[in-house]
Amino acid sequence: MTKDRVLIFDTTLRDGEQSPGATMTHAEKLEIAELLDEMGVDIIEAGFPIASEGDFKAVSEIAANAKSATICGLARANYKDIDRCWEAVKNAKSPRIHTFIGTSPLHRAIPNLTQDEMAERIHDTVTHARNLCDNVQWSPMDATRTEWDYLCRVVEIAIKAGATTINIPDTVGYTAPAESADLIKRLIAEVPGAGDVVFATHCHNDLGMATANSLAAVAGGARQVECTINGLGERAGNTALEEVVMALKVRGDIMPYDTGVDTRKIMNISRRVATVSGFAVQFNKAIVGKNAFAHESGIHQDGMLKNRETFEVMKPEDIGLSGTSLPLGKHSGRAALRAKLNELGFDLADNQLNDVFVRFKDLADRKKEVFDDDLMALLSQNESGDDRLKLKSLRVVCGTDGPQTAEMVMEIDGEDASTTATGDGPVDATFNAVKALFNHGARLQLYQVSAVTEGTDAQATVSVRMEEEGRIATGQSADTDTVVASAKAYINALNRLLVRRQQSGPGYDVKGVSYKDA
Ligand code: KIV
Ligand code: ZN
Repeated sequence: MTKDRVLIFDTTLRDGEQSPGATMTHAEKLEIAELLDEMGVDIIEAGFPIASEGDFKAVSEIAANAKSATICGLARANYKDIDRCWEAVKNAKSPRIHTFIGTSPLHRAIPNLTQDEMAERIHDTVTHARNLCDNVQWSPMDATRTEWDYLCRVVEIAIKAGATTINIPDTVGYTAPAESADLIKRLIAEVPGAGDVVFATHCHNDLGMATANSLAAVAGGARQVECTINGLGERAGNTALEEVVMALKVRGDIMPYDTGVDTRKIMNISRRVATVSGFAVQFNKAIVGKNAFAHESGIHQDGMLKNRETFEVMKPEDIGLSGTSLPLGKHSGRAALRAKLNELGFDLADNQLNDVFVRFKDLADRKKEVFDDDLMALLSQNESGDDRLKLKSLRVVCGTDGPQTAEMVMEIDGEDASTTATGDGPVDATFNAVKALFNHGARLQLYQVSAVTEGTDAQATVSVRMEEEGRIATGQSADTDTVVASAKAYINALNRLLVRRQQSGPGYDVKGVSYKDA
């Protein structure tokens, strides 16, 4: 049976990165783009070039480096945004401009445009984009809550003005599968010129139906699915790339569509996105969750041993998970570590390997067996050589009759500073010590601890999210000592917040579109 091709459009670096707290550094964005390109994603939405100098630079560099993916930038419906977007993507082998405007009654009210005024703006801006680039995507934001007649009218205008892809966003995760399929099917059937363009689906997961809605849209005729790694995205997130790609692979019998994605690269990129975004993957997340291939109950294990298909619809290897493998220990050398990291999908340069080896040895001294998950946690430490704040030492005194005390030495801009602070528990005392040494106005939004493996010597992974004047940064760390991991994660979040302070652009917002500055 010949299968139709469905294009995979990844927007982890735009819609995903836009979610509060998920901001990535320049180097991280380049790394994720490279992984997406290598895994065979067709189109990478690399950012929103007008949003800030940083976004512009990231999109331009991703465009210049991309080997085979089309590189796309986002632009609101005004010439300034579109020109800036074109500047950023034009050096790609295959560039695309993606321009959009909110077409539902609620979104039309924001720029206060009548239906006719908006229709004219769509015509003018898509024409302008098409005069710059022969690959133009247009989106009526909040399409699923736009009046049917008006949606048909503006889609036709965009096609006539030269759009080559029409994306139908379910911006607020409102639609349901049958409606999603029907919407695309009717647009293709009823809008003049619809047969000449690719229809795309872009779903959000507010009601937990993003993947189902995307697959239904494909059944209705969409041939591009917009998605993010791990479903990263604002609120409940976007459609998860790994879910769509694996559903099409596993259920090719009822959904006969191919993607160009090498599914064996899914696990690695999922881990990298979780690390750099600071958004951990929930344990029971489909495809990439820690428990997605774990079979704990006796009856399941018995069935699995006899025939793995009893309880598995896909093989762990299909997404790049190696089968059960032996843990490393304190006698394992550099070569064993390199082999294990390669098996896990990491190809480190010699200097990076040296750095990980030192940390691995330190961990192996404290922990008898170092499992794959321990190594992943080790690699997910976000510390960088440019960090302004570094933890030098920490000693915490605990007791049943508190308060707890933390003695800390921290390096701040190259100078050591020390203090002793008390608090309500060891973590509170530690955080108070950091604050005493480096005073800041950031608010702690999230503090989360999870064990990497089983046993009392297991490492704890700690995530910390901080907020300062609307800027959000997430820090992560892992250690066999939960309090040390907490201190490092807190300091890591502060370091990232300091970078964010410098990067702050004019604060353009995709959803709250302002046309005044257009
Ligand atoms: O969800 C949405 O509507 C978007 C658009 C900018 C395409 O992300
Ligand atoms: Zn979106």
